Amino acid sequence: MVSVIFPAAGAGRRMGARQNKVLLEISGVPILLRSLQAFSAVPEVGQLVVVAAKDEVAFVERLLAGAKALKPWCIAVGGSERQYSIANGIEHLFAACEIVLVHDAARPLVSRETIEAVISAAREKGAAIAAVRAKNTIKVVGEDGRVEATPSRTRLWEVQTPQGFRRELFVRAYEKAAKDGFLGTDDASLVERLGEEVFVVESDYGNMKITTPEDLRLAEALLAHP
Ligand code: CTP
Ligand code: MG
Repeated sequence: MVSVIFPAAGAGRRMGARQNKVLLEISGVPILLRSLQAFSAVPEVGQLVVVAAKDEVAFVERLLAGAKALKPWCIAVGGSERQYSIANGIEHLFAACEIVLVHDAARPLVSRETIEAVISAAREKGAAIAAVRAKNTIKVVGEDGRVEATPSRTRLWEVQTPQGFRRELFVRAYEKAAKDGFLGTDDASLVERLGEEVFVVESDYGNMKITTPEDLRLAEALLAHP
């Protein structure tokens, strides 16, 4: 069985809205709910663990209680960093969970194909992450603004979520990070530092993370003209 942890406990600072960005609506449906619905449509998914900020737990609980067609869900309380929020979510995993996915609540447009591809690659290989080929040239720049290197674009990928792992590997990676005080920028980096292999699954550019106000309009346009 597959469990999905949804970090939703951020502040949405770059959005600059009065409330947490994942509670804002896109074409009439809250972003968080769209993300949960996308995974609820996948048969293998058996549990949704939503990680909410302490003062938003009651609101999120009401939102989910009123929603239709969601897989069994529960709410965990978030931490000060995304990684700590996810660590709190781990405590709620069902005993029957074999594969853990992590998905940013702020990525409501994830496709069913991407979800299914990450699940099957995680089962087969242990760790798999959704990603797209970098569209732009990326440079390594020093503190003084001087360009230091131009890595070959053919090998650069932009990483998204979902990121999927065999449960044992995922828990071991999170425990080691906590023990070492390591804070990574994504879940896979915690697994990589164990020396374990992680594989990319090619996703699509529509699986965007809603971050700034223009992303809301972009997402509405993508929904209207898929
Ligand atoms: N997140 C979380 N707990 C945190 C920080 C972030 O659960 N302490 C979640 C966010 O709610 C979001 C996802 O992690 O769904 C990705 O983070 P990001 O896009 O950075 O969202 P925010 O941190 O909310 O936004 P910002 O960085 O602009 O404040
Ligand atoms: Mg953030």
